[in-house]
Amino acid sequence: MSLSQLPLTSPSLQSMIKLPMHENLIGQSPLIREVNETIRRLALSNLTVLVTGESGTGKDIAAHLLHRLSPRYGKPFIKVNCPAIPEGILESELFGYERGAFTGARTSKPGRFELANHGTIFLDEIAETSYTVQGKLLQVLEGEAFMRIGGVTPVKTDVRIVAATNVNLEDAVKQKRLREDIYFRLSEVIVRMPSLRDRTEDVPLLAEHFNFNFSKKLGREYEPIPAESLARMQELPWNGNVRELAGVIKKFVTTRNAAVLLEVQEQPNRLTAVHSQPASTSAPRSATPANPPVPPVSNARKSVSLKEATRLAVEKTERELITQTLKATLWNRRKAAKLLDISYSSLLRRIDAYGIGKADFE
Ligand SMILES: Nc1ncnc2c1ncn2[C@@H]1O[C@H](COP(=O)(O)OP(=O)(O)OP(=O)(O)O)[C@@H](O)[C@H]1O
Ligand SMILES: [Mg+2]
Repeated sequence: MSLSQLPLTSPSLQSMIKLPMHENLIGQSPLIREVNETIRRLALSNLTVLVTGESGTGKDIAAHLLHRLSPRYGKPFIKVNCPAIPEGILESELFGYERGAFTGARTSKPGRFELANHGTIFLDEIAETSYTVQGKLLQVLEGEAFMRIGGVTPVKTDVRIVAATNVNLEDAVKQKRLREDIYFRLSEVIVRMPSLRDRTEDVPLLAEHFNFNFSKKLGREYEPIPAESLARMQELPWNGNVRELAGVIKKFVTTRNAAVLLEVQEQPNRLTAVHSQPASTSAPRSATPANPPVPPVSNARKSVSLKEATRLAVEKTERELITQTLKATLWNRRKAAKLLDISYSSLLRRIDAYGIGKADFE
């Protein structure tokens, strides 16, 4: 569908433009319409759903919609970012533990499955879980009861499971990262999120949706994007998908310079500047001259030890480097981890610890 066949002036498209961000899967293409219809239909069932798709294609929105449009709406929606939770802790986080189950378990604690009772649990990045956790997950996926760690009483919950992944699960099975039985179970119902490059007819609508919302959010007057720019934007690769488009529009709203609309990344992982700055875990190795890594020890803070100053400096450098890398990879955490030469889960833990939010890039 060309731009001329998609007049953004029609009332239905105008109302779509004005919908709040991050809640709906905006688009008019047959691909996104089909996804929306499938979600609407699946939301009414209790089926376990696997949402797949590249980073930035809207998997989080899809998972939320599966809950919001379901009879479970109003009950808890619990998202578990699997790799962000250290491997040894994930099992107890999901399934809970009884008092005395392990050192430090002074009280008993329900897991997230119990907390999500009557609602939905969203297991994001499901392939990043250990075989032990996957075994227990399979039990729940089969509708069986599970035990809290150290427990003797089976716990039965009524939880709808939605899982997501941005990796190819068949490869994960081949690499022995994902149990085959869980793969078969999860691949029964799949919602595939299309890449933006496969539905470029949605670019103008999405662009105006972000233009309208960012203008409102940033207190700027809403000015529609020139039709010529919209047409040219449809030809771009959008490797970072809708997230990249949103970022570009945000920049446009703040600068009002139409040239930024065409500045997309050909290769989301082309990171020359970051390559030369390895992640430091022991001591600060890099800093921009304007931003010295070691905080000055002022008279008022004479008590700051060298060790503490080093720790703060390391944290500051790490935070900056991680933020920079995530920006350059358009929040593709797997690529960012590779570039930073740290493990994926270790990157996710740092993102959590430093409170780096996706919103910083959107
Ligand atoms: N169809 C869409 N309509 C409107 N906004 C969208 C759409 N798809 C994605 N977005 C927006 O793009 C950004 C990325 O979406 P989301 O976080 O759901 O992607 P994801 O597939 O979960 O990515 P990741 O694999 O990195 O977790 C968010 O700001 C989201 O609101
Ligand atoms: Mg996501």
